[in-house]
Amino acid sequence: MTISSDQRASGRCSVVVLISGSGSNLQSLIDSADEGGYSICAVVSNKADAFGLTRAQKAGIPTALLSHLAFATREDFDLALMDIIDQYEPDLVVLAGFMRILSAAFVTHYAGRLLNIHPSLLPEFAGVNTHQRALDAKVARHGASVHFVTEELDGGPVIARHSIPVAETDTPESLAARVLQQEHALYPKVVTWFAAGELRMTDNGAHHMRIKLPDTQDFD
Ligand code: GAR
Repeated sequence: MTISSDQRASGRCSVVVLISGSGSNLQSLIDSADEGGYSICAVVSNKADAFGLTRAQKAGIPTALLSHLAFATREDFDLALMDIIDQYEPDLVVLAGFMRILSAAFVTHYAGRLLNIHPSLLPEFAGVNTHQRALDAKVARHGASVHFVTEELDGGPVIARHSIPVAETDTPESLAARVLQQEHALYPKVVTWFAAGELRMTDNGAHHMRIKLPDTQDFD
């Protein structure tokens, strides 16, 4: 019996988390798993030195390392990644600082059960260097978003956003730190919704049984 089928027997939503780095979002998901009604059945990294692997090991979660450098094409890497993920038969795949553009085959395979967190108030500032770009644009508020992943980079249906005010004294680093704090509340909230069966992706976008999406919360 696989780990995930054990979890399914217990009725909990099973989640595979993909990371590339520090894994602070992974940590917030680990810390909220019991209360949120989900179990993290594996953590996969494309980087050997990702501190998130250590966080997972400390929590007793199986880990896997799959370096993209070992593959000639994006498609080949994604197929190998899908093989690892599918061994766990997850209900949900969560990108938590996974710094890879995903192939169409990968996105299609996990359609409706693939989430990403992005450090901006989408649809503003898709792509990289979001905090610097927010400062350059002199926006009053900045934040983070969780969305279903589709083939369009950072362009899938937005589920929820947390926003904070931008201070005149902010640097990209100070802004990133405050946004990251919001990410740590935002991501477990959305994964908890999914685990409860309240959230799904439809032809019209993200849909929640009780809440109008995107759910946008402003913090001071
Ligand atoms: C987070 O800020 C996340 O939003 C961002 O990487 C960071 C990962 O931090 N993701 C992206 O930029 C994806 N395009 P963490 O490893 O400490 O969770």
